[in-house]
Amino acid sequence: MLTAPIRQRSGLGRRFESAAAEKPIIVCEDVSKSYQADQPVLRSLSLSIERGEFIFVTGPSGSGKSTFLRLLFRAELPDDGVIRFMGRDIVRLRDDSVPALRRNIGVVFQDFKLVPEWSAFENVAIALEVVGLPSRVIRTRVGETLEKVGLSGRGGTKAKFLSGGEQQRVSVARAIVGEPALLLADEPTGNLDPQLAIDILGLFEDLHSLGTTVLFATHDRSLLDIRDRRVVVLDDGKATDVTHGLPSFDWHEQDSGLRVAV
Ligand SMILES: Nc1ncnc2c1ncn2[C@@H]1O[C@H](COP(=O)(O)OP(=O)(O)OP(=O)(O)O)[C@@H](O)[C@H]1O
Ligand SMILES: [Mg+2]
Repeated sequence: MLTAPIRQRSGLGRRFESAAAEKPIIVCEDVSKSYQADQPVLRSLSLSIERGEFIFVTGPSGSGKSTFLRLLFRAELPDDGVIRFMGRDIVRLRDDSVPALRRNIGVVFQDFKLVPEWSAFENVAIALEVVGLPSRVIRTRVGETLEKVGLSGRGGTKAKFLSGGEQQRVSVARAIVGEPALLLADEPTGNLDPQLAIDILGLFEDLHSLGTTVLFATHDRSLLDIRDRRVVVLDDGKATDVTHGLPSFDWHEQDSGLRVAV
């Protein structure tokens, strides 16, 4: 597994390492979340993700995929339940420990969230500048990471001049340059055409094969179909694990998304 030694090199996330070795990377127990009193989004959701897994999270539009991901990097707090990251309860984490948690989790969004006027290099480097690494180290690490995502030679190009697929590669580079233990992706292929979507999925798979745990949220059934991976469906506020079982689910399109009948 590459993540531990690399994080030692970078000095990121040590506070999480001691507890991490044998524990699942994520454990959710009876997690509930509502934004409005009578409309629960997640209801007693329980789920465990082992280190080194590649897991798809899917479900109808509005089923809570983005909410679930936001809970994992503490952009939201649940109303109830326990969420453990590498064995530590992140719901009750002190505020001054949240940055350390976030340095262990890279996040990629559908809309890239790049600064258009900045170069690809600058958009990635910012993730290391905020933790105060020396500029020589930043230069090397950003160069290596841009190469890893297939963008060597493009570091000097402003984000606004890159194609959609290239912009998503930059945002993946920014998410992984700190070598996080967990990579969360929220519909990362949602703005891309089908072939680029498969390319970006392939990029996540390459990163997974290098040791990163990947949680990939999508409602794109075609991506789920082309890979034989663990799939968790969010529906009615619960997570249902359908490992190798997706075909036995009765999926059908309705209005804005997929519906799952068990
Ligand atoms: N900040 C918020 N305030 C109020 N309601 C919210 C908020 N965020 C999400 N919701 C509601 O919670 C529900 C779940 O939303 P969420 O974005 O997690 O779903 P999703 O599965 O990611 O959907 P999609 O596939 O469309 O991205 C929706 O009904 C949404 O309207
Ligand atoms: Mg969403």
